Amino acid sequence: MIKILMVCLGNICRSPLAEGILKSKLPSHKFTVDSAGTANYHVGSSPDKRSIAVARKYGLDISNLSGRQFSAADFDTFDYIYVMDSSNYNNVIALARHDDDKGKVKFILNEVYPNQNYDVPDPYYGGDEGFENVYKMLDEACSNIAKSLI
Ligand code: 4NP
Repeated sequence: MIKILMVCLGNICRSPLAEGILKSKLPSHKFTVDSAGTANYHVGSSPDKRSIAVARKYGLDISNLSGRQFSAADFDTFDYIYVMDSSNYNNVIALARHDDDKGKVKFILNEVYPNQNYDVPDPYYGGDEGFENVYKMLDEACSNIAKSLI
């Protein structure tokens, strides 16, 4: 089993979308995909209704996901840890115990724009178009991740 974790700040907007999108592109008997937030604000919460809506628009159901906080134990569980932005990166790296942990952490948009360390913008305080934009970015990145792993 190859295990992949998507990480954002709240685990209600970007990373649940990334989880749902990547899951839909990988065979479940070989891959596990999960998501977490660096903050604890939304532990136990469903994804934001705008993330649920944009996923549904593209045929994915993420309504059953539940927010949880990233912890150092995730470095042991997961093979790849994809972060959405530089703040997530810094927060995750701060919990790394050694270089092997650090080596698992990657900017998800580097799968589309190698080495650029671009952010997936946080859509939480914006409108619906921000969620559409995030969906498209994540869909492209997840297609490339799936291509590289299958
Ligand atoms: P996410 O978006 O990190 O993509 O889940 C956010 C959700 C909630 C908050 C910030 C970002 N918040 O401050 O509550």
